[in-house]
Amino acid sequence: MEPVNVFELEAIARERLSREAYDYYAGGAHDEVTLRENRAAYDRIPLAYRVLVDVSRRDLTTTVLGQPVAMPILVAPTAFHGLATPEGERATARAAGAAGTVMILSTLSNTRVEEVVAAASGPVWFQLYVYRDRKATEGLVRRAEAAGCQALVLTVDAPLLGRRERDVRNRFRLPLGLVVANMLPEGYGEIPGVAADSGLAAYVAALLDPSLTWRDVAWLRSITRLPVLVKGIVRPDDALRAAEAGAAGVVVSNHGGRQLDTSPATIDVLPEIADALAAHGHRIEVLMDGGIRRGTDVVKALALGARAVLVGRPVLWGLAADGEAGAAHALRLLRDELDLAMTLAGAPTVGEITRDLVGRGAAG
Ligand code: FNR
Ligand code: LAC
Repeated sequence: MEPVNVFELEAIARERLSREAYDYYAGGAHDEVTLRENRAAYDRIPLAYRVLVDVSRRDLTTTVLGQPVAMPILVAPTAFHGLATPEGERATARAAGAAGTVMILSTLSNTRVEEVVAAASGPVWFQLYVYRDRKATEGLVRRAEAAGCQALVLTVDAPLLGRRERDVRNRFRLPLGLVVANMLPEGYGEIPGVAADSGLAAYVAALLDPSLTWRDVAWLRSITRLPVLVKGIVRPDDALRAAEAGAAGVVVSNHGGRQLDTSPATIDVLPEIADALAAHGHRIEVLMDGGIRRGTDVVKALALGARAVLVGRPVLWGLAADGEAGAAHALRLLRDELDLAMTLAGAPTVGEITRDLVGRGAAG
């Protein structure tokens, strides 16, 4: 039976995945307060729909960084798709292309960026983790650019990995044969197999650069022609700094509740961030992620100032349930739900999803 929503897709994925892999995908930091709040916050926001609008035709298309997309839903960067399907990130790239949207490829993929872009049928952006080894990082940026990635997404909320207690308990490591493919040539391909707790946490602590500052946004811009988005923002002042540092956009994100627990739900901070950028005359794009599981969530995010949203776990559940077809199914479910939500809300185009649609009591 076809799953009718992404929650059912998760139930199927859970049966197919090992305990370690499911926990890694599903888990959040510490008490998982932020993980839960990312979702719960949507349920507290009512949608004040408009009536007697001609919704006989709908148009879900928009652009992100000038890139036309079929819907305002992009694939968030998530590590290790090889845990879900032998095709790994190639399957994700094909599913995103079929959905007419952008895939953001993680630095920590099990497939090299060159192979992912070659397999892709749509645009691929590259998510960057900055290694202590800046030469190796620079090489990675150049490879992503040469491969044909069209933007860089600099993740700034992970100077260390949040403590995901499920992974600590499981002593999370990659199964034999899976590596950080992009960094294998640099000697950073292996996730430690015998760490005291999470092998991934040990990898991050040993290799990624916790001294990263705003100055490094300028450094990154100096070594690439690609637009740079800054991902992991939850404060208006940080969004303004990103704009001043020359970022093409920000991703309002708390890493899916996996980093600092009790950090705010992203939908709750989105409007103040969008408003601050607008008030200062910054026209950079605001994307957001965290807890998007329904079409109505997307409407709320756009109404509160996002140009588009990213989805992380729903795509992983699709991949684990049925590879490329499953990931495509996850994106189709969300697209169809968004189409219905726009229809019932009296907003047949993305441009008509405006702040007044979120009812009284909502943020902003
Ligand atoms: C992530 N995320 C993430 N972010 C990033 O910048 N680089 C990465 O490698 C990863 N890896 C990763 C792995 C897994 C298993 C998850 C669940 C998440 C965070 C991701 O980009 C995004 O911010 C969240 O997943 C969004 O929340 P939802 O849609 O999963 O609720
Ligand atoms: C994670 C890292 C890899 O959330 O971003 O697991």
